[in-house]
Amino acid sequence: GKGGYDHYMLKEIHEQPQALRQCLQERVDELSGAIDLGDDLQQTVRGAEFIQLVACGTSYHAALYAAQLFRSQGVPAQAFVASEYVTAPPPYSEDTLVIGITQSGETADTLSALREAQRRGVETLAVTNVVGSTASRECADALYIRSGPEIGVAATKTFSAQVVAANLVAAVLEDRGTHHDFASALRDLPSQVQEVLDETNAETVAERFVDSEAFFFIGRGYDYPVALEGALKMKEITYEHAEGFAAGELKHGPLALVTSETPVFAVVTGETGSKKTVGNVKEVEARSAPVVAVTDGRTDVGRYADEVLEVPETDSRLAPVLANVQLQLVSYYVAERLGRNIDKPRNLAKSVTVE
Ligand code: M6R
Repeated sequence: GKGGYDHYMLKEIHEQPQALRQCLQERVDELSGAIDLGDDLQQTVRGAEFIQLVACGTSYHAALYAAQLFRSQGVPAQAFVASEYVTAPPPYSEDTLVIGITQSGETADTLSALREAQRRGVETLAVTNVVGSTASRECADALYIRSGPEIGVAATKTFSAQVVAANLVAAVLEDRGTHHDFASALRDLPSQVQEVLDETNAETVAERFVDSEAFFFIGRGYDYPVALEGALKMKEITYEHAEGFAAGELKHGPLALVTSETPVFAVVTGETGSKKTVGNVKEVEARSAPVVAVTDGRTDVGRYADEVLEVPETDSRLAPVLANVQLQLVSYYVAERLGRNIDKPRNLAKSVTVE
């Protein structure tokens, strides 16, 4: 059941602290800070010279995030929309690893992309929530995100766990041996998510902007996939026009869309170019668009914002996960005000088993 919540989506948003604890359990040693994903999997990822990620929808946003994490460890990595990977397969080498990120493990496009990789004799890894799913059975290796069942069509807790799982893989790639600071940041993440859930003002923000013409989301670096995800969640459950942009792309076109009727949600966390995003916020403000800053307070972006959704400070690679929780909640409350069918949005299915 919904455990006292009006919708599965809200229940699953609130299950995120627990979902992340499960994802981390026995994979991060509290004392030594060592990260352990099992010998087989570690050998596979450490043997990879190139990584290609394939996924759809929300999982694709996790894949974009993962690719950036892997690149930061010096491993060339690229995320592909699974259907495009199949349409125009990129070159590969013997040492390429193809990672499919799929909550359900049953998404037809992602399975096709993984099968394409297997036909070429390339190593495959499934990052999935469902034990025994097709992706987990067909890939050479599987990494389970252990979120527990997700019933709402909108992916929430599984996105957070996918990003945490990607962080674990990135840590293994780096072969840092022990990772004290990072391990303690990971350990604190579930309670920081709880803090966001307990202290959020997302409902007020949703109420203020529910009648907007459109919703825009911007971010750079690790905040960029979260901007895309914020927009996808918004359009999926509210049926309103929402778009996510790399903050730096704003003035290359999208800025023409920005008016006083279009709030811009600026995701500004961590160290990755936050200052530049503040510059973009000023540009938006000059066009009289309302600004909602989703931020850890490392910059003064709050000074230029009409509303602030605060998140606790943490490692730059994890902070956008917290920002994303705020955006999930804003979308939820906008959809609720609009009376949408939140758990089963029109035209959508939880698991898309046709290409
Ligand atoms: O099960 P998967 O992770 O492969 O699903 C991929 C997408 O269909 C899914 O993430 C979809 O975009 C979500 N409903 C978005 O909330």
